[in-house]
Amino acid sequence: MKKIFIAPSILSADFKNLEKEISSLKEEGASYLHFDVMDGHFVNNISFGPYVLKCIKDVTSLIIDVHLMITDPKKYYLEFVKNGANIITFHYEAIKKEEILPLIELIHKEGVKVGLSIKPNTEVEKIKEFLPYLDLVLVMSVEPGFGGQEFMINSLNKIEILDKIRKEYSYHFLIEVDGGINDKTSKKCIEKGADILVSGSYIFKAKSRSKAISLLKGE
Ligand code: DX5
Ligand code: ZN
Repeated sequence: MKKIFIAPSILSADFKNLEKEISSLKEEGASYLHFDVMDGHFVNNISFGPYVLKCIKDVTSLIIDVHLMITDPKKYYLEFVKNGANIITFHYEAIKKEEILPLIELIHKEGVKVGLSIKPNTEVEKIKEFLPYLDLVLVMSVEPGFGGQEFMINSLNKIEILDKIRKEYSYHFLIEVDGGINDKTSKKCIEKGADILVSGSYIFKAKSRSKAISLLKGE
């Protein structure tokens, strides 16, 4: 069976006790830490930025997966690179199509992996030309902006299409799914070919995080 990686989204963590919330996640079975950046413009919510990332970097050795839900990723990506991002994912919908490949190249030049994300209403077809250059494709399974929303079933078809294209052309990108992931929706995503499952509320509200993470992996 292929390996499934879990990326807890700290959006649902208790920020009064952030260090405690984060420091045990690795031994509880997580591989990535999903860092949701919101600017109140690309989405209707404001979260946190590079300074919080810097603080987090000191208390975890998990791979930091930065999800930029911001209007101007070109202006800010470097701030996240400098403060410890291992993967930078920006949105297809945020910038002009002709700016996407140059931004992928700029981020790669920093030695950081690059992801491209699509919102629920964006079809895989739109990002097809970028797939050979990407390390990750992030399929949003809720409208970005808030944790705790219900999984949108149309994302399963996108995962399936991406997995098919990946196999056909031997592309190397990983497929990550974000939004409404729980012990039931995770199974469906894995069946369709997902590699990384982001989960906020399901993990941080669980009594046992290690159990929640195992269930998400389908163990
Ligand atoms: C939503 C964020 C997600 C969010 C997921 O815009 O990108 O990462 O934290 O939260 P849950 O798992 O609660 O849907
Ligand atoms: Zn996210």
